[in-house]
Amino acid sequence: MDRNLALEFVRVTEAAALSAGRWVGRGDENSADAAAVESMRKAFDSMAIDATIRIGEGERDEAPMLYIGEKVGLGTGPKIDIACDPLEGTSITASGGPEALAVIAAAEDGNFLHAPDTYMQKLAVGPEARGVIDIRESVTWNLQRIAKAKNKAVTDLVMVILDRPRHAEIIGEARQAGATIRLIGDGDVQAGISTAEELTGIDVMMGTGGAPEGVITAAALRCLGGDFQGILKWRSEEERGRASKMGITDFNKIYTIDELAKGNVMFVATGVTNGSWLRGVRYTGQGATTHSIVMRSQTGTVREISTRHNFSRKPNYGW
Ligand code: FBP
Repeated sequence: MDRNLALEFVRVTEAAALSAGRWVGRGDENSADAAAVESMRKAFDSMAIDATIRIGEGERDEAPMLYIGEKVGLGTGPKIDIACDPLEGTSITASGGPEALAVIAAAEDGNFLHAPDTYMQKLAVGPEARGVIDIRESVTWNLQRIAKAKNKAVTDLVMVILDRPRHAEIIGEARQAGATIRLIGDGDVQAGISTAEELTGIDVMMGTGGAPEGVITAAALRCLGGDFQGILKWRSEEERGRASKMGITDFNKIYTIDELAKGNVMFVATGVTNGSWLRGVRYTGQGATTHSIVMRSQTGTVREISTRHNFSRKPNYGW
């Protein structure tokens, strides 16, 4: 995929983050999400790409913009597939909590898993633990393997998991094994990718969250050289029915990182609120600052971009 697209995509996530940032802590999830969606769409439409949303805000009838199958971009240039979450962490944005992001993953045509908007059981680790995990095995087994690969004791490991009643067993077992648990209210994309950045102190992410977020996390970890496994978790027969129409036949399949996001992928994210890795948007006298990461699987280059936006010269955030 053309590396020059990387900077263009950063403009797109910056635009979404700058708009969503206005809604941080204001208790209004819908307005925060709508602001991010609208800005992301406008920013996409200024790019010379012929892109299709494969993972977006949902099906056409429930999402007015960035719905699955929607075309974005000027319609010229390379054909690409987009997995996006204009605001990953709507509730945390509304409550001013940590880990909210604006995020895009891009791949060549047909390279993201097509699945309905369901749940996914996830296991994510950074590069040192690549190849040693197995989602079919117990929490303790995985923690021991990760610890060994990282030359640490299990008691040195930090595991992140969404704070949900459904995770009581995993949390109990991990605590019994001696790992430190960091519970998060929302935002398992940033938690998942943080396993690949040593400075975050996070070694592993486990638990069940959104399937779209799982595909996006897998794309990021492909770029970062980490590892990811996922199992789709169905909530209803209706979801299974939709999945069959999308070509899914094995409902219990264990997806490897390469099956979720194949080929050359690109991942771009901008912090909305402060997170394990990215700083959130900060508004200044002149405009605002943003913090983004951009990376490609082909080269493994990871760029962190701190941007100063001057609203007197760029009132519409750049689209
Ligand atoms: P939204 O961006 O849709 O608010 O998702 C936030 C999130 O916490 C994801 O990071 C996570 O994968 C999912 O929701 C978990 O779902 P649930 O809140 O239903 O447990």
